[in-house]
Amino acid sequence: MKTILAVLLLTVSAYGQPLKLDPDVFAKRRHAFIEKMEPGSVALFASKPEYDRNLDVKYEYRQESNFYYLSGFEEPESILLLAPSHPRFKYVLFLRKRDPRRETWEGPRSGTEGARTVFHADTAFVIEDFDSHIWDFSNNDGALYYGFGVNPEIDGKIKSLFVDGRSGRNKAILDPATVVDEMRLVKNEGDWSMGLKKAIDISVEAHNEAFKAIRPGIYEYEVQALFEYVYRKNGSPRNAYPCIIGSGQNATILHYETNTRQMQRGELVLMDCAAEYGGYAADITRTVPVSGTFTKEQKEIYRIVLDAQNAGMKMVKPGATLGVISAAIDTVLAEGLLRLGLIKSSNDRRLFSLHGYSHWIGLEVHDVGGYTRKGKEITLEPGMVFTIEPGLYIRPAVFDLMKERGYSDGEIGQIRARAEPYLNIGVRIEDDILVTPEGYRNLSEGVPRGISEVEAQMKRR
Ligand code: GLY
Ligand code: MN
Ligand code: MN
Repeated sequence: MKTILAVLLLTVSAYGQPLKLDPDVFAKRRHAFIEKMEPGSVALFASKPEYDRNLDVKYEYRQESNFYYLSGFEEPESILLLAPSHPRFKYVLFLRKRDPRRETWEGPRSGTEGARTVFHADTAFVIEDFDSHIWDFSNNDGALYYGFGVNPEIDGKIKSLFVDGRSGRNKAILDPATVVDEMRLVKNEGDWSMGLKKAIDISVEAHNEAFKAIRPGIYEYEVQALFEYVYRKNGSPRNAYPCIIGSGQNATILHYETNTRQMQRGELVLMDCAAEYGGYAADITRTVPVSGTFTKEQKEIYRIVLDAQNAGMKMVKPGATLGVISAAIDTVLAEGLLRLGLIKSSNDRRLFSLHGYSHWIGLEVHDVGGYTRKGKEITLEPGMVFTIEPGLYIRPAVFDLMKERGYSDGEIGQIRARAEPYLNIGVRIEDDILVTPEGYRNLSEGVPRGISEVEAQMKRR
């Protein structure tokens, strides 16, 4: 029974190579967290709540990322406790009790025994006993690390026990994010082997398959289905974020997720789609011609975005900043827009580029870690992973914004005429970049980006 439970709880997914969780990785993370805790303090992490979707149906459950990062434990209605000052029990799980009738419907629960044998907790209790057992671990000295806002019910419990609660129990409450976010910002072998690499590899495979399937007449949702088939076939339980398949003018809607349109010859389709694996998110965008061949105008815009992305990548090395990368991208985008006569001044580039060019990725697609330390921009270190994702979006709404920026009616008229051949072109190219001691590695380089490479991959259909 023990072995079966261990196999069930330590594997994720059905097809492909199941993910094996490595208990040592979680133990090392807990140890690193504990090292940074204030003397005499305890830390509590709440599980995410389950949410009702409609009658008798819940939204798919996903564990809160810090809880998962420190334990690998994915059941709801649980609390993780770290108590470094306790003589015996430094890592404790409070969790749902075993319930054979419910388990017949919903699948196996770890229970207190599984918490110890599979998740290596020093001890475990059923969640109903949290209020009585918490005082075995927490005393009047030292702070409590707890992040409010994950689970309203557990927040209420913590507030009544530690904030409004018994006299003398009023503790200093510290945000564990100050410690965990820093840990999660710099990835290591554990992150790589337990999901980050495979999330990116699966997403790369899915993009390459999509390239081969796209043709005039195909619906956006058919391409989405292909992405999601490749994810599931490789054991990814879910998308890292909702799939964006924007064809024609939908490519200019940044977070278009409807995916219902039929693609036409002569258009571009922008695909911002990636898988989650072992909790880790990839984040990849490619923009390709529906017919398999870029038009002259599409090439002009695409080339500017590609050159901008390459200029950004060139700047990546330890000690650089995302600001430096962003500035290099801005320069190329502005030069391109000025060359086409679509802006008057390089300061106006954001009229067409709209969004930021980088964010950390990890257990969240927009991962934790912050972008400044003590008011200064974070400098890159080996192990940091982030996106480089410039884009240009030529949409009619831009002309109203130009008016607000002080462009005259005459100038807008001229720009409108020059923009006409480019109207409704939206291009974004997004890759996942690892900082290495020597510079960087483009982890998603397996999806073609160059114009002729994209066209060649599409011909493999
Ligand atoms: N897919 C979300 C983003 O690119 O940030
Ligand atoms: Mn992104
Ligand atoms: Mn993206």
